[in-house]
Amino acid sequence: MSRPVPDATGGPGSASSADRKVTIDGVELHLTSPVTAMPEWVGRRDVLSQLLAAWSTIERRDVPLNPRLLGKPGVGKTSLACAAAAALDLPIYIMQATMDTRPEDLVVAPVLAPEGGVRYMASPLVSAMVRGGVAILDEGNRMSEKSWASLAPLLDHRRYVESLIAGIKIPASEAFRFVTTMNEDASTYEIPEYIHSRLMPQIFLDFPEEEEERAILEAQVPYADEDVLIYVTTFLQAAHEADLRYTVRDGINVIRYAMKLLHRKEALDPADAVHRALLLVVEADEVEVLDIF
Ligand SMILES: Nc1ncnc2c1ncn2[C@@H]1O[C@H](COP(=O)(O)OP(=O)(O)OP(=O)(O)O)[C@@H](O)[C@H]1O
Ligand SMILES: [Mg+2]
Repeated sequence: MSRPVPDATGGPGSASSADRKVTIDGVELHLTSPVTAMPEWVGRRDVLSQLLAAWSTIERRDVPLNPRLLGKPGVGKTSLACAAAAALDLPIYIMQATMDTRPEDLVVAPVLAPEGGVRYMASPLVSAMVRGGVAILDEGNRMSEKSWASLAPLLDHRRYVESLIAGIKIPASEAFRFVTTMNEDASTYEIPEYIHSRLMPQIFLDFPEEEEERAILEAQVPYADEDVLIYVTTFLQAAHEADLRYTVRDGINVIRYAMKLLHRKEALDPADAVHRALLLVVEADEVEVLDIF
């Protein structure tokens, strides 16, 4: 697999002294900063390899694909995208899509400059394009066709976006990689076919197996008591089995809270601490999953 090289020069346009600005076709764009300190990816090499394969290029005429990560909330979609970016040593830019996301939110938005006049702010997506990073468009299924349409040229061999507001065409740096995550439970709009076909391949994430789930929890809360980890893993596995919505993220919060109760001596033992923490998380009509105690 070829490894894209991070573009230290700031990609297309000329990097300005502030390093947070670039000039493209005479228009100054202000860039956003990448996110830092993402947690380590635990286990599940299969989906990580699928994503890295989609992003790889085999020769000059090849282009990276723009995959979508599908799965229920909390299965690790965003974390997987970050893990793949980290594996390639590329900066990570995350954009949260909503039903209100407009094309200018995705590309370039004008704001009032402190010194007067207009300042053009690049979105995290465009900042990733310019800097040669990874853009993660989170919850892409919430976004309207109009917004997706503004990304159509970016998601095929053309690899550029047009900003109508700034009047410029912004090419993606060679290292730029794109991925969107989609939670099938929460679609707002039907995504049109011409966009569907640009967001391939589809990579499915399921809930982790028991051992892997425990390893994830342990990695996220390294100071957790062994018994607390076992109880919470058992709870999560029972919840997945019963098709309830509880996820690793809930598990992490339950462990953190149970550990606080133990630390403050407000719980008798790990079982009591986890039980009390779970009562604050589990819906009243779903308490049967607490039969693990
Ligand atoms: N394999 C994994 N390795 C490390 N952490 C993981 C893994 N899978 C899930 N997690 C952790 O589980 C939590 C939820 O993961 P994440 O936010 O990536 O899920 P998601 O699918 O993007 O959820 P949502 O649909 O709610 O956005 C995070 O704290 C994340 O770090
Ligand atoms: Mg997510």
